[in-house]
Amino acid sequence: MSGRTTLTIVLAAGEGTRMRSTLPKVMHPVAGKPLIAHVLAAAPVGPGDAVAVVVGPDHQVVVDEIVRIRPEAKTFVQRERRGTAHAVLAARAVIADGADDILIAFGDTPLIGAETFVRLRAALKDGAALAVLGFRAADPTGYGRLLVEGGRLLAIREQADATEAERAVTLCNAGVMAFAGKTALQILDRIGNDNRKGEYYLTDAVAIAREIGLSAAVIETGEDEVRGINTKAQLAEAEQVMQRRLRNAAMDAGVTLIAPDTVYLSADTTFGKDVIIEPFVVIGPGVGIGDGAVIHSFSNIVGASIGARVSVGPYARLRPGTVLGEGARIGNFVETKAAAIDAGAKVNHLTYIGDSHVGANANIGAGTITCNYDGFDKHRTEIGAGAFVGSNSALVAPVTIGAGAYVGSGSVVTRDVPDDALVVERSPQSVREGWAKRFREMKTRDRKPKSPK
Ligand code: UD1
Ligand code: CA
Repeated sequence: MSGRTTLTIVLAAGEGTRMRSTLPKVMHPVAGKPLIAHVLAAAPVGPGDAVAVVVGPDHQVVVDEIVRIRPEAKTFVQRERRGTAHAVLAARAVIADGADDILIAFGDTPLIGAETFVRLRAALKDGAALAVLGFRAADPTGYGRLLVEGGRLLAIREQADATEAERAVTLCNAGVMAFAGKTALQILDRIGNDNRKGEYYLTDAVAIAREIGLSAAVIETGEDEVRGINTKAQLAEAEQVMQRRLRNAAMDAGVTLIAPDTVYLSADTTFGKDVIIEPFVVIGPGVGIGDGAVIHSFSNIVGASIGARVSVGPYARLRPGTVLGEGARIGNFVETKAAAIDAGAKVNHLTYIGDSHVGANANIGAGTITCNYDGFDKHRTEIGAGAFVGSNSALVAPVTIGAGAYVGSGSVVTRDVPDDALVVERSPQSVREGWAKRFREMKTRDRKPKSPK
């Protein structure tokens, strides 16, 4: 199919009122990525391939997301919702520019795979003017039914317009279609709105293609791939399908998931070889995990680059901008943010490292806090290679702890510490010999022993 150009039009003008949210429907996330981003990721990207998205009025956040993923994509606003064919024709200008294949997808159907678009295009190459994606619905209520006779697709009937017999058909329209570019407008321009809802139905394209002597083909797929999302419950179902796929792909790539169903991944998570992820780990967007790294249970990781042979958790929270060098160790109840922690460094217990750089092989003791925020601004902490920060120290940023320096436990460090120095910031220890014994004697002298009850 190389050499053929494709225009993918994604319909995303839905208001999504059943989501009960102020966020446009296609911006709700599955596996850490908006629905629309999943659909765009499946669309062909080659030289000459174009993308257009039809959005609703006031959908600037959707436009911003589209531009972020496919900067060259064109967006069109459908001012009034007058049906799926009406939505497609909002992008008429780009259809008129011409493409060999025109793909129509729905922005609220995120599980669609690139392979399916390839199969639809192959049907066009075999001579169909129109290829429709169909599936066998467990419950066909609400879907357009594919009316097939003698192996040929005659028409699609919307639920509202279907007869009793037509409603019994379980082969349904997934909504994804492919049009041969050269006849697309001929068909689309003939679609009217003479139906129960008074909408311009894209699905009428099938009957119209036949009327003008063109043919329509059906490509079948499984129901999971074409789940559309109208409600939060359906969003959660799509998340489960996507998580299953991501877990299986990770395991196929060699990642050990001890309890896969308890591990949540993002669509963009990357793994090296021999990674082990223990049960109950949540990985948000922007995470890469290096060779041989182990993520222990109950860790939450977002926007972090984890080097080879790093150990994280249990109970670690890695926030965006965390970069862990080879063999670094992040232990229990440690939080990091915008922190570069170099090779071999250890941050093992109960610590916050934010806006910081920790040099190679430094050791950060339990309960160390980088005090990075003064209520107005964030400040940086620099900890040199091989430094040793004693437990329960507060490093008040901006501050630098030199390479190889020691920080005595419990210090509140407010000024820079030179390389290889010792800093201790604490009141002198006073010891009173025998005090505790005298205290106990004084307290017990006048008291009678309690009689047992
Ligand atoms: C549509 C199909 C139906 C199919 C089902 C699959 C039509 C007429 N019906 O029905 O055959 O079985 O999808 O899920 O095509 N949209 C716009 N502007 C509009 C109308 C819709 O952008 O004026 C967008 C929506 O945002 C959505 C998509 O098109 O992404 C589908 O619209 P929707 O109203 O959900 O169609 P269904 O009734 O589900
Ligand atoms: Ca729908």
